Amino acid sequence: MSIAIYPGSFDPVTLGHLDIIKRAAKQFDKVIVCVMVNSEKKGLFTPDERVDLLCRVVKGLDNVEIDSSHILLADYAKSRGASCIVKGLRAMSDFEAEFQMATLNRKLNPDLDTVFLTACQDYTYLSSSIVKEMARYNVKLEGFVSPLIEEDVNRKMSEQLNVKK
Ligand code: PNS
Repeated sequence: MSIAIYPGSFDPVTLGHLDIIKRAAKQFDKVIVCVMVNSEKKGLFTPDERVDLLCRVVKGLDNVEIDSSHILLADYAKSRGASCIVKGLRAMSDFEAEFQMATLNRKLNPDLDTVFLTACQDYTYLSSSIVKEMARYNVKLEGFVSPLIEEDVNRKMSEQLNVKK
């Protein structure tokens, strides 16, 4: 059984992430989407909230599982019996950091390969940071995130802005 891990911050999951999840789910028997810690990022949503948003948007994709973990990706992949990491590439600017992470992960776990799926043209500009920036300025999130979670993102952003006032 081919198992792939799609790791990320998913703060929150975007339509670009969802596109990668759907395409990966066609290539592997099972795809585990895992909310992980990126020590360079401060989150808007808690890990549990991100898991909840992900669960809602992948509903109906039978071979996709949502999880979260605080351990190293290379160790997590081993613990789940995964042979592959899936990552999305939006532009050449993503490549350098992703190449470095893929090489590091293979050094930590030599049985682990990284497969890159190029972003669909509509989503090359899209990131969770862009979504948060748009929500901050009350731009409608249609085309950025699933309609199933639009309200959650707007609500969370206004809560955060109110706290800061
Ligand atoms: O969506 P992101 O923030 O680009 O995802 C980065 C992420 C979470 C996949 C990366 O930071 C990660 O793998 N974190 C888990 C801890 C780890 O294994 N670190 C070493 C690889 S950088």
